[in-house]
Amino acid sequence: MNEQIAGLRAKFEAEIEKIRVLPELEALQVAYLGKKGEVTGLLKGMGKLPETERVSFGQAVNELKDAVSERIRARLEELKAQELQRELDLLPEFDLSVPIDPPVGSYHPVTLAQRQCEQVFRSMGFTVEDYSEVVTDYECFESLNIPKFHPARDMQDTFYLENGQLLKSQTSAAQNAIYRKYRDALIREGKPIRAIFPGRCFRNEATDASHENTFFQMEGVMVDRNISISNLIFFMKTMLSEVFRREIKVRLRPGFFPFVEPGFELDINCLICGGKGCPSCKHSGWLELCPCGMIHPNVLREGGIDPEEFTGFAFGLGLTRLVMMKYGVKDIRDLNSGSLASLSQFADDE
Ligand code: FA5
Repeated sequence: MNEQIAGLRAKFEAEIEKIRVLPELEALQVAYLGKKGEVTGLLKGMGKLPETERVSFGQAVNELKDAVSERIRARLEELKAQELQRELDLLPEFDLSVPIDPPVGSYHPVTLAQRQCEQVFRSMGFTVEDYSEVVTDYECFESLNIPKFHPARDMQDTFYLENGQLLKSQTSAAQNAIYRKYRDALIREGKPIRAIFPGRCFRNEATDASHENTFFQMEGVMVDRNISISNLIFFMKTMLSEVFRREIKVRLRPGFFPFVEPGFELDINCLICGGKGCPSCKHSGWLELCPCGMIHPNVLREGGIDPEEFTGFAFGLGLTRLVMMKYGVKDIRDLNSGSLASLSQFADDE
């Protein structure tokens, strides 16, 4: 009988060696340990044995049963591990150190241009200020030499809130706070005020290719002794040539803003049509980009600065318009579209 057990064991070992996949192993388990399996069959035949052999035979069959179970369990683990490895081998190569391609996100072109302008101005000693989008009438108009009922208010169709505050219609709304923040350093320590403040502006505009109801401006001011229009022109030109990385045709024409005197409109030659005229420049070949001028004495005085002693310039760059020109966006409304397909194409050109 022991030869019978040894023979079955040898047969089992030979068969399990050939097994390569899980279903074959399950079938082998049934063939040996199932109700009608070969090991179970040996136990069923025990009754025919003489009593003297029965106990030792039973022990030998049980040992075989345990050995077969253990061998099947071990082979099951091996096959599972091999199967997992096969699945892993099918996965594409993955290297954690490789930058993700395509990128999962990108900066909005306005953010890219804003950061570039900030960098240019920082390199010229300007601080970058942040300012609220909800402001008071005083900040947006009165402190800027635009009293109540002044006709200049009609130039900006403003969104008023029920509490009397308003959505900032121009970044100039931050001017007064900036003068007050830095005037002590200017007066006591002789440190010039040099600040830019980018921000979102809101106007109740009829939209077209170059007008939005929500757009970005970047205000800039410089106040010191003996600041003149030539300082203003120098900073404007430096900023534009850095941002566009090429020679840009500009023109200065007189412009009226109650908070500057004299005031100018700085236009750039339309880069979309090369100056020939198109919807983006209202067929004029020029795009109004950056009104500017020498800060009005009343505005300096309101900011706590003596206009007899100090002068300064201010400008209000149309940042969204600059983005249109820089990246060749023909319609300003595309920039507020939220379309990832178009807005994610722009890259930092640093
Ligand atoms: C002003 O807002 C003044 N605060 C600018 C200023 C600052 C003048 C300091 C003098 C000194 P204006 O309304 O023209 O000015 O707007 C400035 C720029 O913002 C425009 O030249 C244009 O580039 C941009 N802009 C104005 N309205 C819109 C609009 N609806 N959509 C897109 N850009 C606009």
